[in-house]
Amino acid sequence: MKFWDREKEKRWLKHYLLTEPNSILFVYGPKSSGKTTLLMKVVEELSRDTIKTYWYDLRGKVISGYEDVLRVFFREKGWGKKVLDGISKMLKIDLNFFELDGGELLKVINKEVDAFEIMEDRLSTDKNSGKRPVIVFDELQKLKDIYLNGGSQRPLIKELFNFFVRLTKVLHLAHVIVMTSDTFFIEQVYFDSTLENTSRYYSVDYFDDKTAKDILISEGISERESEKIVEISGGVPWILREVIKDENPIEVVNELYKQTKSKMIELIGHDERYLNILKEVAGEKNLYGTKDDILKELVEREILFMDPVNGEIRFQTRLHERAAREVLKAIR
Ligand SMILES: Nc1ncnc2c1ncn2[C@@H]1O[C@H](COP(=O)(O)OP(=O)(O)OP(=O)(O)O)[C@@H](O)[C@H]1O
Ligand SMILES: [Mg+2]
Repeated sequence: MKFWDREKEKRWLKHYLLTEPNSILFVYGPKSSGKTTLLMKVVEELSRDTIKTYWYDLRGKVISGYEDVLRVFFREKGWGKKVLDGISKMLKIDLNFFELDGGELLKVINKEVDAFEIMEDRLSTDKNSGKRPVIVFDELQKLKDIYLNGGSQRPLIKELFNFFVRLTKVLHLAHVIVMTSDTFFIEQVYFDSTLENTSRYYSVDYFDDKTAKDILISEGISERESEKIVEISGGVPWILREVIKDENPIEVVNELYKQTKSKMIELIGHDERYLNILKEVAGEKNLYGTKDDILKELVEREILFMDPVNGEIRFQTRLHERAAREVLKAIR
């Protein structure tokens, strides 16, 4: 698979990873903007002699409490080594876990020994061997279950982030990168864990129109069609990938547009509360900071996107924007 562009982002992230850790980094951006792909590329391109990656992808995992979180970090010695080597090879990044023998693992889970102390110890060993540990936490929103389910488990997230602060800002021992498209959840974690002056944000957005058009042309799509595709759907990397595989690329984006529109109609129906919000966003009113459950739902359902750094709420993609305008026009 060809990796497109992102020179500027790669440069920034590599530089960040090669300097001394001093903050947690939240990498955020709209759905399918290419966050995971970009960071994997950065890790792949940085020499394995320089960094040691602990990559935790929470997607597909059910995380409802303490033990589940520990099972993300720790593995029994030799566990699934073949599988792990296979995945590392395929992804071209080196995957590491904190390995313990069975008895030790049990002690960690039963809280007889402090998991964070063990991790800190291992990370110090890595650092002393001349490698900078990098912990990547992908799909942070999977921890949301902990917020929704058990009030008693909530302090766990706070503890985890306090540990991340210790690893970065206090000990300068390891980089911690946290990725998600759920920016409401980042803000919740940020405020609950009092992360002011401990973290940075980095945005990975869709490709701009010119870059997206150049990418399509470089993949063999005609100039006229490339322009049309970008006009309809913008520079969403996932869409660009879908488009280039197909014999009739314009049909693909038209199909995706129809899907986006039907899903939007299914969710909002004729409910005035949703329509009013879409109308305001379509009218370029910035609703950032407005406390409203319906607005929050539209962000959580990935129709709208909230950018916590630039302080704006906008349509997730150009497809969503056009669908919203058509829905609004139809009911007028
Ligand atoms: N720079 C790139 N070059 C080529 N393909 C890319 C690039 N960035 C992303 N893609 C493709 O776009 C799709 C979405 O990318 P990716 O999963 O990295 O996005 P994401 O922002 O992590 O998504 P999510 O919000 O779901 O976590 C993938 O199919 C990926 O292969
Ligand atoms: Mg991702």
